[in-house]
Amino acid sequence: MTTIFVPREHAPGERRVAATPDSVGRLLKAGLTVSVEPAAGAEAGFADDAYREAGADLVTDAAEGWAAADLVAVVGPPALEHATQLREGAALVGLLAPHRHLDVVRALAERKVTALALELVPRISRAQRMDALSSQANIAGYRAVILAAHLLEKQFPLSMTAAGTIRPATVVVLGAGVAGLQAIATARRLGAVVRANDIREAAKGEVESLGADFISIEADEAGEGAGGYAKEVGEDFLTRQRRILGEHLAQAHAVITTAFVPGRPAPTLVTREMVEEMPPRSVLIDLAAAEGGNCALTDGARTVEHGQVRVVGAPNLPATMPGEASTLYARNILELVSLLTADGELRIDAEDEVVAPALLTRDGEVAHAPTAELLDKEATR
Ligand code: NAI
Repeated sequence: MTTIFVPREHAPGERRVAATPDSVGRLLKAGLTVSVEPAAGAEAGFADDAYREAGADLVTDAAEGWAAADLVAVVGPPALEHATQLREGAALVGLLAPHRHLDVVRALAERKVTALALELVPRISRAQRMDALSSQANIAGYRAVILAAHLLEKQFPLSMTAAGTIRPATVVVLGAGVAGLQAIATARRLGAVVRANDIREAAKGEVESLGADFISIEADEAGEGAGGYAKEVGEDFLTRQRRILGEHLAQAHAVITTAFVPGRPAPTLVTREMVEEMPPRSVLIDLAAAEGGNCALTDGARTVEHGQVRVVGAPNLPATMPGEASTLYARNILELVSLLTADGELRIDAEDEVVAPALLTRDGEVAHAPTAELLDKEATR
């Protein structure tokens, strides 16, 4: 029988967990055995006893959990030490951020681990329930606006009272993918005036349908690449984009940046000069902080005070709502595990249209071409 191990996440600030007591119950029903590291769900509000009651075994030694498992389910990439504890031929699933953890990828390949990166699961309708990028980005977009509203010493909605009128806050959202659209919807619900930009033309209609204004930047080329994702745009376009965005940022109370290009560093949309033109006491929340940030002043998870503007690096907002984020993530994992198993046994079909693109390592090789290229580059350096 296949044993799934759910470890405690090791990254600083990571409070999510890859399985909840509810998802454990469903995994058992599917004929799998589940072992859980003690306190794995503690920070997300899931006690060890709840996992035990759901039917999981609590391991006494985490190293043994890693070494004995047929499949390990994680939220973020494992520590190198844990990757090397996996037994040969075991499987690993999670948001593995391969381009930022090449040493882990190399170790996984060497251990002949079959690793699947959830962020590489294609966005086709059959795989919608495995779409962890969306489930987590939705939470990040919501939380970013709540954080901005909390930090801002100004209210979001228009308020007309006998004592006078308070103008609504202006919020600018850069990047209108899943996180950006949720940020727009949340800021609108709070009564802010919202303006948003994206390089994908398709985003315009979505932005406007949420009651926000779309900031258009004339492009010589479409910003849409493969799979509906953004592609990396040239420096010319970025310069024009920054000039136009700068005019909007100069009137913004809160700016939420969410622009990503898969597998590439995040584009710098906001320069130091643009921050200096922002109104005093305004805030910028940078959701792209883990990929280098959309703002030149972003510094990891720190809050940088530049003049009178606060730039907040927010690399992992879903981890600040760990219970709900884990509940959704655990369902994404459950769906992927169902695809990888049959009658309680691991049966990974490398030809499957969902599995094939998500395969990161397999049979001692790095199966994901862009990651293999990065490893080659690193080796020849
Ligand atoms: P993402 O997290 O990769 O990027 C966020 C946003 O940043 C994207 O909308 C992207 O166009 C934008 N961006 C990148 N560079 C930019 C720049 N220089 N300036 C302004 N904006 C920039 O994207 P996410 O949220 O994962 O969505 C990507 C695509 O996938 C979208 O088209 C979305 O509609 C689609 N999608 C499809 C799903 C499906 O099941 N079919 C589910 C979820 C998303």
